[in-house]
Amino acid sequence: MNKEEIVKLIKTATEQLSYSYVPYSGFKVGAALLSGNGTVYTGCNIENAAYTPTNCAERTAFFKAVSEGVRDFRAICIVGGPDGKLTSYTPPCGVCRQVMMEFCNPEEFEIILATGAGDYKIYRLRELMPEGFGPGNLK
Ligand code: THU
Repeated sequence: MNKEEIVKLIKTATEQLSYSYVPYSGFKVGAALLSGNGTVYTGCNIENAAYTPTNCAERTAFFKAVSEGVRDFRAICIVGGPDGKLTSYTPPCGVCRQVMMEFCNPEEFEIILATGAGDYKIYRLRELMPEGFGPGNLK
């Protein structure tokens, strides 16, 4: 990915913070998921009074894409913080990493953590999910 594409994803992810529904934690997360055909699917976290139905921003983005027939992904950018203040990186939770394992090549899929356009770090899924379980393990 070039710098321009990365900055665009960071901006798109940051815009999603305004849609976060977080009455319980106050911790807003935004995501921008880049598909193989160049379309970007967005997501925010959506909390629930029963707590466990809460959906993370990353999974919101993945499920939006998959529900529209898209299963080929290149990268996801994730931003978040208390009340939407981007003071540190927001790494994906274990459940979201597992969803990534389902649809993404762990050696290629990129996870961009950012606090702003000028401060980001890029990981491959394999780095965040060593020895992860995926569809290939069922064969
Ligand atoms: N959250 C995400 O949206 N993505 C992550 O990967 C980390 C956690 C959300 C879930 C919950 O709404 C809030 O952040 C605090 O855990």
